[in-house]
Amino acid sequence: IYEQPVVVAQTLRAYLRRMENEVAMPDMDFDLGAVKRITIVACGTSFYAGMVAKYWFETFARVPVDIDVASEFRYRNTPLFRNSLFFVISQSGETIDTLAGLREAKRKGYKVLAVNNVVGSSIAREADGGIYQHVGPEIGVASTKAFTSQLLIGAMLALYLGRLRDMSFSDGTEYVRALKGVPDLVRRTLEQAPHIKEIAKRYAHYHDFLFLGRLSLFPVALEGALKLKEISYIHAEGYPAAEMKHGPIALISEQCPSVFFVPAGDMFNKIVSSMQEIKARKGRIIAVATTNCELPPGLADDIIRIPECHEAVLPIVATIPVQLLSYYIAVELQRDVDKPR
Ligand code: BG6
Repeated sequence: IYEQPVVVAQTLRAYLRRMENEVAMPDMDFDLGAVKRITIVACGTSFYAGMVAKYWFETFARVPVDIDVASEFRYRNTPLFRNSLFFVISQSGETIDTLAGLREAKRKGYKVLAVNNVVGSSIAREADGGIYQHVGPEIGVASTKAFTSQLLIGAMLALYLGRLRDMSFSDGTEYVRALKGVPDLVRRTLEQAPHIKEIAKRYAHYHDFLFLGRLSLFPVALEGALKLKEISYIHAEGYPAAEMKHGPIALISEQCPSVFFVPAGDMFNKIVSSMQEIKARKGRIIAVATTNCELPPGLADDIIRIPECHEAVLPIVATIPVQLLSYYIAVELQRDVDKPR
């Protein structure tokens, strides 16, 4: 977790062409400018990185994206579109379902691009083009720095694809400025650790959690829930914040706290109204909120502040508090975070 400011800087250094304010992608034997559609396939945390990437590719590059978990994709015989790019994400490069998905796509004649952290892995060898994460080994089962670096590569790829299409020079420049700021944003967010540790102590005894976010922060909510499950063995679910009222709301009580992602912007009022629904049912709320949004007094029981930032980097910054929360809850429960079940 604490390596992240350094490793995201490494990922940036590898692909950001500083002078030209652009991203440089490694040589690949296909033309990214001709791509009309993208299919992303991955498992677990890497799948959630893919969900964020889908949001960015569609928002900033205006390329439609389909996404599937690899274990479903490989058996589903999904129709693929010509001129579509097949994109796999795998930290280890050895996850068998992701590898099988890649082989299935290649068999059908598609070009495969892989984001992967392990040089020479099976997925790296079999893909037509690869982007290495350069973050060093993930020691435990739970992916942390590998996830934020997958997000960063997704954000860079969205910029690259966007600039090949209709993203303006000035929007591109602003985007690059945001990317360059990521190591510092991550460092500043990590400074919240003592505060998050205190919160974790107060919440470690709960047996159920909801993680709620919207748009690009919905996959971060899924990742927050997965981290809590993986290392502390507490039941947790991630949901799009407004979808919570269609079922999961039945679970809300004093016994089921919710972690809400609350950025300033268009969705702010809608997120506040979802929080009010939780409060009306006596649910406790931990808000992960950007510094520029003012929450109605008393709505959140605890607030973790994250720096205000560009949409293209917000999911990266918002991930840090939920990693720390899971970590400190697991430690409080005396779980072995280095060797989880
Ligand atoms: C699972 C791990 O087994 O594999 C997850 O528990 C991980 O943490 C997933 O995200 C996918 O791994 P990879 O190496 O393909 O990214």
